[in-house]
Amino acid sequence: MRPRHFRPAGAMRGEIRVPGDKSISHRSIMLGALAVGETRVTGLLEGEDVLSTAAAMRAMGARVEREDIGEWVVNGVGVGALLQPQAPLDMGNSGTSTRLLMGLVASHAIEATFVGDASLSKRPMGRVIEPLSRMGAAFDSAEGGRLPLTVRGASPAVPIEYRLPVASAQVKSAVLLAALNTPGITTVVEPVPTRDHSERMLRGFGAELEVEEIDGANGPERVIRLRGEAELRPQVIEVPGDPSSAAFFIVGALIIPGSELLIRNVGLNPTRAGLIGVLRDMGGRIDEENPRVVGGEPVADLRVFHSPLKGIEVDPALAPSMIDEFPVFFVAAALAEGRTVTSGLDELRVKESDRLSAMAAALTLAGASVTENEDGLVIHGTRGDPLPGTGGPIATHLDHRIAMAMAIAGMASVKGVEVDDTRPIATSFPVFEELLEGVTQ
Ligand code: S3P
Repeated sequence: MRPRHFRPAGAMRGEIRVPGDKSISHRSIMLGALAVGETRVTGLLEGEDVLSTAAAMRAMGARVEREDIGEWVVNGVGVGALLQPQAPLDMGNSGTSTRLLMGLVASHAIEATFVGDASLSKRPMGRVIEPLSRMGAAFDSAEGGRLPLTVRGASPAVPIEYRLPVASAQVKSAVLLAALNTPGITTVVEPVPTRDHSERMLRGFGAELEVEEIDGANGPERVIRLRGEAELRPQVIEVPGDPSSAAFFIVGALIIPGSELLIRNVGLNPTRAGLIGVLRDMGGRIDEENPRVVGGEPVADLRVFHSPLKGIEVDPALAPSMIDEFPVFFVAAALAEGRTVTSGLDELRVKESDRLSAMAAALTLAGASVTENEDGLVIHGTRGDPLPGTGGPIATHLDHRIAMAMAIAGMASVKGVEVDDTRPIATSFPVFEELLEGVTQ
């Protein structure tokens, strides 16, 4: 464990550039590994989760290397040509690596075993086992569809039409990646839109993929069709900055008096940018500068000003577009004026930790007023006053986003917050602490 006390701080000022998007980084390596030839990637997130994906793709035959100038080069084997890994694939803490790679293996004539850390080994994999079994893959897993887990791929796999029972980009992507080496057309129906990086990137790599919007019982639904036995062409990719990493600094600058922070290179794909709209509705001033397109994704620099925030009722329909941002959003709510109500967040209970109970416990220790409901938190904010708690230590449960959210809470507190373990931060944002020190006065 590497504990750290995050002290109350003065304003956040200056500028930072956030590292590459985690979701896009994983997919750059996976799709590069399935294209024949050389894919070059700049701005790749060099966090532990993405490095787990890189190691797994190497174990299945691709060459994945970092060049001196920080550019990554992936030499792919081609769809259908993944090799049998010789040892279990260690996924560390990464649910995205595990679920997406299960999809890849599911339609190749290979067998792979996935292992992970204590957090990942508690997470449900049944949600991907179910559609991938229908496509013909076979699974052995620990109880309840958990890791360690072995996938025996089907060859040929069977195309399916699959309606997502949970709003999950990981499940959608697992089926689409399996579909790449499956003859015929695989269809995924998405009742609630989730991040669409897989669709954008699969198209970019030359897959035949179409998305149709149809009227569903509860609003528009997306129908995604992918033609299998695809041939992917290598690409040059520039990974935009990760909005989920920027989120910690956005909230920090909003809640710490005197702050004005420029955050460069923030990906603003609408399926990811829900937090920014909600914070603006609470009164937060977040200006967009220099809007542009990077790697097929909308990007801008964000200038964030300290702002008095007002509590809000968050529309549960927004949850997928800010699903990873709730831990730090709860910190913003804890400093706002009045009551913030969230609901429809059952998925937060199966992230790297149970984020509803972890954040309820951590914020309560930090002195916030929090009620934990089955599917959300209700928070009464301090109206801008620093959190008055004793400072912990708070338990991160191997969850990077709990550690970073509570680091920000510590900076907006009277006595600081003691975070029990900062090591998990390296899974998604290795330079977080360095950037934080650089901008706080
Ligand atoms: C991700 C999808 C989300 C998100 C995760 C990354 C992805 O998970 O929480 O951090 O890259 O597809 P779910 O699909 O399980 O919601």
